[in-house]
Amino acid sequence: MNDFDSKDFFTDPSFIPDPHPYFDHLRSECPVRFTGPRNVVAVTGFEECLAVLRDTATYSNINAATGPFPGMPFEPEGDDIGEQIERHRPEIPLNEHLVTMDPPQHTRVRRLLGGLFTPRRLAENEDFMWRLADRLIDTFHESGKVELLHQYAQPFALLTIADLLGVPEKDHAAFVAHLSTQTPGAMAEDGALGTNPLEFLDSKFSAYIEDRRKNPGKDVLSILAGSTYADGDTPEVVDLVRLATFLFGAGQDTTARLITAAFRLIAENPDLQKQLREDRSLIPQFVEEALRLEGPVKSDFRLTRKKTNLGGVEIPAGTTVMVSLPAGNRDPRRFTDPHEFRIDRENSREHIAFGRGVHSCPGGPLARVEARVTVERLLDRLGDIRISEEKHGPADDRHFAYEPTYILRGLTEIHLEFTPVSVTEGSAHVH
Ligand code: HEM
Repeated sequence: MNDFDSKDFFTDPSFIPDPHPYFDHLRSECPVRFTGPRNVVAVTGFEECLAVLRDTATYSNINAATGPFPGMPFEPEGDDIGEQIERHRPEIPLNEHLVTMDPPQHTRVRRLLGGLFTPRRLAENEDFMWRLADRLIDTFHESGKVELLHQYAQPFALLTIADLLGVPEKDHAAFVAHLSTQTPGAMAEDGALGTNPLEFLDSKFSAYIEDRRKNPGKDVLSILAGSTYADGDTPEVVDLVRLATFLFGAGQDTTARLITAAFRLIAENPDLQKQLREDRSLIPQFVEEALRLEGPVKSDFRLTRKKTNLGGVEIPAGTTVMVSLPAGNRDPRRFTDPHEFRIDRENSREHIAFGRGVHSCPGGPLARVEARVTVERLLDRLGDIRISEEKHGPADDRHFAYEPTYILRGLTEIHLEFTPVSVTEGSAHVH
């Protein structure tokens, strides 16, 4: 007997340092289970998570990003609330963003991303990442220490998306100043923290898209500005602006937290670090296992559109379903010794850290490249990477803090120490 069941997963801080004992408890009782005071169904089994993610007819994405808060503006009536969801959709927070849309609207809008995530575009973007990684490392290299989240991972993930979208490099400093939560002064030009980041993005992207519609060129912003729906209709400027701003929301903090989780593993495990240094071809597999073990998206939500039965559990229409991606990724029925990090695990890549089905993360390939480039370049230039004992305590008594939210699994900071390695310009990276 433990007291998990009397606590509220969505507000209780005791779940933050490590949610896995709770997920294991739920799964051991049933991989699909009503839990807590909010009447949420928690799905903690791998197969059961997949079943939900793949079934858009039964499960709506309307609450995907927020879950049980702030609640629905209607009382569910009957066994099929599809019509109620559509009627109230405009009142539901974040309804204008791709992740909350359901087919056919979702299919229509997701198509607009097609021009951004092409292999050619991703290759160009990767060139930018190598340069950016070096630029950021230069800012702390000599000191032999770094707080990786704010001094590297956040600006790196932010500017990679800016580049993907074709934001001109002359505007990058303004993006950092307005959009990052980094320590003031590290890269920002002015003390713009405190301004509304969404307003900044809205005004920037409205201006870019209007300009490219008048003066189309060959850049990515022109591709986005000229994109059409499948029926040939041209989207409103505001719809493209929303899509662009959403990419920052979805892709910045997630990737930054993947990078910090990856470096906690590297810095805590000297053998693993040595292995990766000696055989760089292991890095992609390392990234997959890090995603499986420490994927940054903690919960993905659905609302049952119809009464249904999942894994033998009856679920009424209008129920919030929490698809626990980290729990699915540690389901022992799918992954042997699931809490262990294993670089040679054969099925790491089956993880659901990027979701699955029609909403699966379109930024997955990009995040993978970001992590790979980062690991490569930090291993090149930072010798003997260690956790700072001064900040996190000695090896047998470490302290790490995680963001106090049920949505994201992310270290609030990670201080590393290292021996600076000088590499001849351009020598370490050939690709
Ligand atoms: C490690 C990094 C990342 C993780 C773990 C992650 C995870 C996820 C997950 C789990 C979903 C599915 C949500 C659902 O099923 O409701 C998703 C959707 C999405 N992600 Fe990512 N993501 C990452 C990086 C990125 C990046 C770099 C971008 C873009 C630049 C991005 C853009 C999006 C978008 C636009 C969606 C919505 C897709 C849709 O609803 O069709 N993500 N992401």
